Amino acid sequence: MLDHFVKLLKSGEIVAFPTETVYGLGADAWNPDAVQKVFELKGRPSDNPLIVHIADRRMVDDFALVIPPQASKLMDHFWPGPLTLIFKKKPEVLDLVTGGLNTVALRWPSHPFSQELISRVGPLVAPSANTSGRPSPTRPEHVKEDFGDHFPVLEAGETQIGLESTVLDISEQPYRIYRPGFIGKQALEDVLETEIIIFKQDDADSSRSPGTRYSHYAPTAEVQWLKSDEDPTSDEAMYLLHRNKPGMGADTVHFYDGDYSRMARELYDRFREADHKNLQKVVIEPLPETLQEKEPVARALANRISKAIGSR
Ligand code: TXA
Ligand code: MG
Repeated sequence: MLDHFVKLLKSGEIVAFPTETVYGLGADAWNPDAVQKVFELKGRPSDNPLIVHIADRRMVDDFALVIPPQASKLMDHFWPGPLTLIFKKKPEVLDLVTGGLNTVALRWPSHPFSQELISRVGPLVAPSANTSGRPSPTRPEHVKEDFGDHFPVLEAGETQIGLESTVLDISEQPYRIYRPGFIGKQALEDVLETEIIIFKQDDADSSRSPGTRYSHYAPTAEVQWLKSDEDPTSDEAMYLLHRNKPGMGADTVHFYDGDYSRMARELYDRFREADHKNLQKVVIEPLPETLQEKEPVARALANRISKAIGSR
């Protein structure tokens, strides 16, 4: 079944494939023309680097200049899985892949289809398979919405996590989380036995994490946090609530009852659904800091929602 996709990738073509987080736009990481095509297809700024997806610990050696002992602990514990690690890069890694940085991002996805593709083709760059600025795709239909019905998509239904991987920079101390995800700060610290920092865009300059500079994840509808005195009753808006169930609400109200994993799995699909229904707004109940400390997925959600709000 995967033969067709393997053949396309080996001949320098781009295909979309499922990972456990979101669908990726895959290309041979050693083929500059193929990598260039990924940037063009997405309309992605060339200084925003790509993640190299691998399926074997030996593949790390082809990209990472040094593998700190702490990195081995993280790889043993979290790979395959939704954790991207940033290493100092080897000189031969394509500049196109790393956006000219001296580091490279590596991830070993756990989805069996991604593993089989990578094992048969070799390492693949794979940004989320959306056009730049749009919500990441969690279903094959989302990819086709952005790239057309004839685009090659290895279909595997809805992705399991629905938000992109945690991105952790281990190329320098202190280690920094550039993008919060399903694997949270505490889980990482427990394995590392050292403290790590959650990088905030305004903490320092963004040149080390170019992805934090660009607008992201946004539907056409305006995304807003629900105000404390606001009733979720307008039928021109979609409401995403997680704690306070309204007695009466519009039929565009979705209540998650503290199930943040489901909220994460559905968020981008809801964004796209709001646009299909021509709704003006997506209004989301705030995810307070105290909740984010307990629930890594709530932190990841708050991060993506804030970016969707900030991108207008
Ligand atoms: O879950 C995921 O990570 C998905 C699936 C397909 O694997 N991929 C994904 O890729 O989200 P993308 O390209 O949409 O996001 C990659 C993020 C960007 O914010 C980029 O700036 C950052 O990782 N990144 C990549 N290489 C980096 C590097 N060397 N230094 C700092 N940030 C880097
Ligand atoms: Mg993306």
